[in-house]
Amino acid sequence: MYREFILDHYKSPRNSGSIENADIIHKEVNPLCGDQVEIFLKLNGSGTIQEVKHLSRGCAISVSSMSLLSETLKGKSLKDAAGIRKEDIIGMLGIPVGPVRIKCALLCLYALKDGIVKYESAKP
Ligand code: FES
Repeated sequence: MYREFILDHYKSPRNSGSIENADIIHKEVNPLCGDQVEIFLKLNGSGTIQEVKHLSRGCAISVSSMSLLSETLKGKSLKDAAGIRKEDIIGMLGIPVGPVRIKCALLCLYALKDGIVKYESAKP
């Protein structure tokens, strides 16, 4: 049903785990099913993403999307990370994502963007 690489990311999510002293920690839950992704980002002194981890529990699309996204974040500025669009996530998955599955695919993006907004708004 899904491409092999999606199932591979689902079974072995890349960058799985947590970062104890992360600068950004944010959990996003899909209220329809209870699936969740929690993202951890460690920044360097100039605000570039230095380390990425996530704890994801959910369907194949939500977990593999988070895994794929996590591979692209290291080395990005927060501004560039905040600019990632839903089309980028769908492009990474490489499959048509219908209205039912779009929430699964975008759970990781909401976690990333809301985490960045929370971090930026807490700055003095
Ligand atoms: Fe819950 Fe996909 S079914 S996020």
